[in-house]
Amino acid sequence: MKFIDARVIDNVPVAEEYYEMSFSWPSDETPLPGQFLTIRASDRTTPLLRRPFAFSRFDDGVARIIYQKRGDATAILAAKTKDESLNVVGPLGNIFPVPRDSARPVLVAGGVGIGPIFFFAEHIRAYNPLLVVGARTHGLLPTESSPHGIETVYATDDGSFGFHGTVVDVLKTTYSTDENWTLYLCGPEPMLKAGHEFAAERRLTAWVSLEQTMGCAVGACMGCVVRVTGGLGYARVCTEGPVFDSREIVWT
Ligand SMILES: Cc1cc2nc3c(=O)[nH]c(=O)nc-3n(C[C@H](O)[C@H](O)[C@H](O)COP(=O)(O)OP(=O)(O)OC[C@H]3O[C@@H](n4cnc5c(N)ncnc54)[C@H](O)[C@@H]3O)c2cc1C
Ligand code: FES
Repeated sequence: MKFIDARVIDNVPVAEEYYEMSFSWPSDETPLPGQFLTIRASDRTTPLLRRPFAFSRFDDGVARIIYQKRGDATAILAAKTKDESLNVVGPLGNIFPVPRDSARPVLVAGGVGIGPIFFFAEHIRAYNPLLVVGARTHGLLPTESSPHGIETVYATDDGSFGFHGTVVDVLKTTYSTDENWTLYLCGPEPMLKAGHEFAAERRLTAWVSLEQTMGCAVGACMGCVVRVTGGLGYARVCTEGPVFDSREIVWT
């Protein structure tokens, strides 16, 4: 983990409310899929806390994030322009494990979980992943940012693009019992829970990347803990995660 004085290279809208920012990465620590960084959006006292974002891509010393404009910090980020400095800490957290058996990797993204799943899809391209990407409606899907040449199914809740239904509905209609899948999911918690239940019912492994609200993001404040089945009964998403085997999480 390092403090990095990055420079914005590009910061463009990629869907309604969504932006993709690329920035220099003057560090010898290479970010991997699943890992995240924190950004101090402003030198002012508000917003005070650094905000976490997952890497959506990394190549040739250039890092990227895909983010949704939600509140104060992301509004400040959305206004950043080329060559502005970016106060970054990273890379943080653990990584999506690369498939080790013959199971087909099925990567499922929703909402702000799109970035890390796109990064992982690119990373394991040689494993023939299936990518399933969902949103409420067509306008919220950053289709141009998705990795090219990977089998992709889009789903929208309102049926305005691709499959009419949720990403978990896609899994249910696509899966056949003679297949072996390993699932990788990132998105809103109800989606992760439904993905976990889908996997558990079929005895499939599912890895989930959690996007818990964070304080320090370095393991000190306990602001990001989730209940888990083993060990102390809780885990810090920022240091033990953000990627967990879904069977480790106590889903509520
Ligand atoms: C490990 C990790 C990775 C993340 N990766 C991404 C990413 O790649 N792209 C992206 O757009 N966002 C990502 N997030 C979420 C991102 O950190 C928040 O959207 C951001 O902090 C919002 O800051 P803000 O000041 O703009 O909004 P705030 O004013 O802080 O919040 C605005 C609204 O969003 C809600 N909110 C804020 N943070 C979260 C959260 N973590 N989960 C659910 N709701 C939240 C708040 O409750 C509030 O309603 C990630 C979070 C974590 C923990
Ligand atoms: S955010 Fe402080 S311990 Fe995780």
